[in-house]
Order: sequence, then structure tokens, then C-alpha cells
Amino acid sequence: MPNVVKIHLIAAARPNFMKVAPLYHALAEQSWCELKLVHTGQHYDANMSDSFFRDLQLPDPDFHLGVGGGTHAEQTAGVMVEYERVCLENRPDWVVVVGDVNSTLACTLAASKLAIKIVHLEAGLRSFDNSMPEEINRIVTDSLADLLWTPSPDGDENLLKSGVAPGKIDRIGNIMIDSFELVRPKIERANVPEILGVKDKRYAVVTLHRPSNVDRAPTLQKIVDEMIAIAASGLALVFPLHPRTRKSIEQLGVLEQLSKSDGIYLLEPLSYVEFMSIVLGCRLVITDSGGIQEETTYLGIPCLTLRENTERPITISEGTNLLIGPDELGTKIDEIMQKEFEPGRIEFWDGKTAQRAVESLYNHACLRTA
Ligand code: UD1
Repeated sequence: MPNVVKIHLIAAARPNFMKVAPLYHALAEQSWCELKLVHTGQHYDANMSDSFFRDLQLPDPDFHLGVGGGTHAEQTAGVMVEYERVCLENRPDWVVVVGDVNSTLACTLAASKLAIKIVHLEAGLRSFDNSMPEEINRIVTDSLADLLWTPSPDGDENLLKSGVAPGKIDRIGNIMIDSFELVRPKIERANVPEILGVKDKRYAVVTLHRPSNVDRAPTLQKIVDEMIAIAASGLALVFPLHPRTRKSIEQLGVLEQLSKSDGIYLLEPLSYVEFMSIVLGCRLVITDSGGIQEETTYLGIPCLTLRENTERPITISEGTNLLIGPDELGTKIDEIMQKEFEPGRIEFWDGKTAQRAVESLYNHACLRTA
């Protein structure tokens, strides 16, 4: 066993900061490891990155790769080149990658070619839809990882079916719940709905950024038309715009129409605390995000997901999630508002996932290699 286990924890893009933060705090307290935080720079705006670091009490990263946007190949290759350089100068024993973004794949590839051990947090999720770049990132990351941390039993099953040895899989639960519980008091105090002037449970939160929804003009136009109709019928819509979505809406020429529609609140991307504050007060969520399907399940808030599939089926079978097409928005809102949901009680979605992750890594890094 090495004296001290050197660990790199990779942060990259908005959905990953919520997965990294609880683990960062838990690992930083351990005497058996030396922890370095690496930010690839995939997301770089103040409101897509910095505000999350602040809300989640993350320190400045030890290494910032500053890679930024680009095509998939450019972004992935950029992170690989920069992260390999970091590893050659400051070689870790283990690298922790989280989620399914391009940086997750890139760091996995760079590290595995240097024979550095990899642990994947949020392993085993599958949409079985290879047209999603995230699915490709998940498959490759899971096939190279030495230790796979799953959030739910479907993750274990997917990994076992794809031939991963059972000894490499540890079900530790959903770390996003740890982040929520870590910051819950601030979220409850933030009162963002009141500041916006929307009434409790009388509005829906909308988030969209998937290419399948926002990059094709006819689909985006359909969603915009449905949104205007929903707001006109009395359910206000609070819609923080992802940079990709803002660009698409501008290109479609409907930004002004949307921003002038009664009952539609177009916002810049929100910080984590602000966003969870509007989610806590809303009647339902309309989204194409992955993580929000889980957060709404945990909170018992109805969620309409504008996608044909989900890598998080447990949010449908045991949670509040319903998959819908763009032309079903109006009808499915009525259907889901009839239902009452209990806050989810999925095993290990309990705010203690980071603790289980630390135990698992200690076992694999310190005990098994002794
Ligand atoms: C990425 C992830 C996706 C995740 C999403 C959350 C991949 C394959 N996709 O998609 O899984 O759900 O993040 O946001 O990794 N941009 C800015 N400022 C920023 C970040 C991005 O203006 O801080 C712009 C980029 O330049 C680009 C667009 O937004 O034009 C998309 O960003 P990118 O990170 O490439 O992909 P996302 O669609 O955000």
C-alpha cells in the first residue's frame, strides 16, 4: 500500500459539480489520501461554473485545464492532451471521474493509457441510445474503469450484463442528494420564487439543452409554441436558458416573442442554490436534463422529461418522471398534475453516498493492493 494515496477528482461541466462537491469534502478529511481537484474548463462561464464552486463550497481547483468548447472531438482531445500533461507531472494513484460528459471520457482515456487506476462515479447508467454523446461516454468510461460506483440496482445489472466483474462494482447511491442536503438550508432561505414574483406551486420550471430538442428548428418551434400556450392557460413558466438553447432560440428568431409572452420568465443560467430554490417551490418541472429527473424524484415533484428514453429508469418506476414528446406537453401536464407523489425513498439516495464512496475507495486503494 502506498503511504498516501494520490487522488485526482475531475470537475468539468455544470452537472458534474454537484457530484464532485460532496466527495471532495469527504475525501479532503481523510488522512490516507492526498486530494487534487482538476477542472477541465468544459464549462467556463461564471454562471455555468464559478457560482457552483461557490454554492458548493469547493475551493479553487489545483489544476485548471482551460479547455472550453468546440466539437466533440476537439473538446475530448483538448482535455486528453491537457490532462495527460498534468498526470505526467503530478501522477495520481487513482483518478475519480464522474457522470457522462466529454471530460469524463477524455480523462478516463488519458489516465488509462498511463495505467492510472480509475473510479467512475455514476457508473452503469444506460439509455441504450447511441445517438446521445453521453451514452458513448458512459460505455467507454465504464469499460475502462477499475472501480464502478453505481447509484441504483439497474446500474449494477447493466454493468454485469456487459461483463464487468462483480468485484469492481460498488453500489453507493446517488451523490446529487448529498449535494442537495449539504446546501438545503441555503436553498430554503433563498426565496427565489418570491424575488421573481411567481406564486408557490403556480409555476413550472423549464430547462432544455439537449441537441435533440434545441438544435432542430421544427422541434424547438413546437416546444416554444406549446410553452406559450401553457403560460397563456395560467401556469407560469420559469425558464433559465442554457447557452446552447439561447443561441438556438435566437437563431429561430423567437427570443423576443418568448420574452414578451405573459407568464414566461426567461432567465440566465442560475446558480445551484437559486435553481434548487425555484424547483422547491414549483408545481412541476419540464426538462431534458439527466440530474433533474433524479432531484425531482427525491423531492416528490412531478417531472415531464422531453426525451424518448432515459438512462435513469428508476425515476419512472419509483419516482415522479414521465417521458414525453414535444407535442404531448399540454396533455401530459394535465395528466401528471392529477397525481400525488411521495418524496422518493430509493435505497441509498440518502445524503450518505460520499461516505460510502470514501469507504469503497479506501478498501480498493489501501486494503486490496496491500
Ligand atoms: C454538456 C454535456 C451534457 C450536460 C450539459 C449540461 C457532453 C457531451 N455534454 O452539454 O451531458 O448535460 O453539458 O450543461 O459533455 N457554453 C457556454 N458557456 C459555458 C459552457 C458552454 O457558452 O460555460 C456553450 C459552448 O460554447 C457551446 C454550448 O454552450 O456552444 C454547449 O456547451 P457544451 O459543454 O459543449 O455542451 P452542453 O450542451 O452544455
